Amino acid sequence: MKLTSVTLAAALIGSAAFAAEVGPKEVKFNDDSAIEMSLTGVAGDAANGAVIMATRSKGNCVACHQITALSAPFQGNVGPSLDGASDRWSAGELRGLVVNAKMMFEGSVMPAFYRVDGFTRPGDGYTGKAGTEPLPPILTAQEIEDVVAFLTTLKDE
Ligand code: HEC
Repeated sequence: MKLTSVTLAAALIGSAAFAAEVGPKEVKFNDDSAIEMSLTGVAGDAANGAVIMATRSKGNCVACHQITALSAPFQGNVGPSLDGASDRWSAGELRGLVVNAKMMFEGSVMPAFYRVDGFTRPGDGYTGKAGTEPLPPILTAQEIEDVVAFLTTLKDE
């Protein structure tokens, strides 16, 4: 009897966490181009966020930004240094910037990391026509939260 209720509770918690995830099309920006609510309701893992930011196939933020706290080589200067980013931006603004920087900076070259429509689609390898399958966002909701968690650690002393 006891085991059953524990299992049920675990199942309920699991589905509640799933239902709480905000999909790329449901993201709500406020008037300051910020997203106040967590996309997942699960606290971000800053250490994993640092890995994502330095990984070419994930955030690859270091291709355009210099970040002293990351030891990644060959950091770019297309965008501003992210040192002290959390002194300049709130967590909600940082989330908004990573989800879709074009909300804050119109025409930005920074990729929208949590978006599935509204951009030119890559063509099919054989026909050259745009594909029809929905493209997944570059980062998952939890990866966005992890990156935001790392960005909020970037303070100037
Ligand atoms: C293709 C280049 C490019 C990539 C990749 C890129 N950014 Fe940016 N980012 C920019 C540019 C350029 C700006 C400056 C705003 C503008 O004018 O577009 C910017 C601005 C920002 C800002 C605000 C700058 C400030 O004042 O602190 C943050 C925060 C930021 N980016 C975070 C990230 C994160 C996190 C990633 C990876 C997940 C990332 N960027 C990937 C180009 C890039």
